[in-house]
Amino acid sequence: MIEVNGLSGLYIVVDGIVGCGKSEQIKQLKEHLGLDFSERDFLFTYEPGGNPEADVLRQKVKFEKMSPVEEAKTFAESRAITIPQVVVPFLAREGVVVSDRSFTTSLAYQAFGRGLGINKVWEANEKAVGKIFPDVLVYMNVGLEASLKRSSGENPDKFDKEARGFWHKVVPGYAKMICFLKEISPNTKVIQIDDPKGEMNIEVMRLAIKSELYPIIREHLHEGRISRDRQV
Ligand code: TYD
Repeated sequence: MIEVNGLSGLYIVVDGIVGCGKSEQIKQLKEHLGLDFSERDFLFTYEPGGNPEADVLRQKVKFEKMSPVEEAKTFAESRAITIPQVVVPFLAREGVVVSDRSFTTSLAYQAFGRGLGINKVWEANEKAVGKIFPDVLVYMNVGLEASLKRSSGENPDKFDKEARGFWHKVVPGYAKMICFLKEISPNTKVIQIDDPKGEMNIEVMRLAIKSELYPIIREHLHEGRISRDRQV
């Protein structure tokens, strides 16, 4: 959707707190999108990381002790590598990029969880993000208690080990991040799935996301066809 980031592809970001079921839903998208929209190419990526250079920063920021400011800068540094090297080239070829997290996570975790504030965190990210805002943000708003119960505990990083106080700041931080996102990128479509008690099973959640996401993808495909027809 050209009006969001100037590129002809579709940039979809999936976000939510630890244990919200994001990884499972991304797996579902991987299984279904290619089959349901065979005329489009899909790229699944993630932040922090997404290529070998940024994956080094992923390990560092997940497992090394550092100040909140250094942490925010490291996430932004990873983004400054993968947005131009991974995301933009694919969007420029009309591809659909699905990213597991993005600067939106920083605007909740670092801005509120770490207490840096949204303006300072956005300042650290502005250069890396440039105009490459997501066309769609899928925010899985699953209740904190249900999420914490579900978080896997496999190879825990420093965020997985955070105490409740951190998460009690991050959850309202997501609501503030979404308000801020609407200011800096008014054309980004936000799909928010609310599941306060964590009652939705994988399939129910998948269908809830699908019912809002598929019309956007269809519209995007349609727009692409119109603009190609105009060129011939
Ligand atoms: P990951 O294993 O990808 O976690 P998850 O399965 O929860 O997505 O690790 C990334 C961790 O980094 C995760 O705890 C969220 C955190 N994070 C931030 O704090 N800020 C950011 O900008 C990003 C992208 C991630």
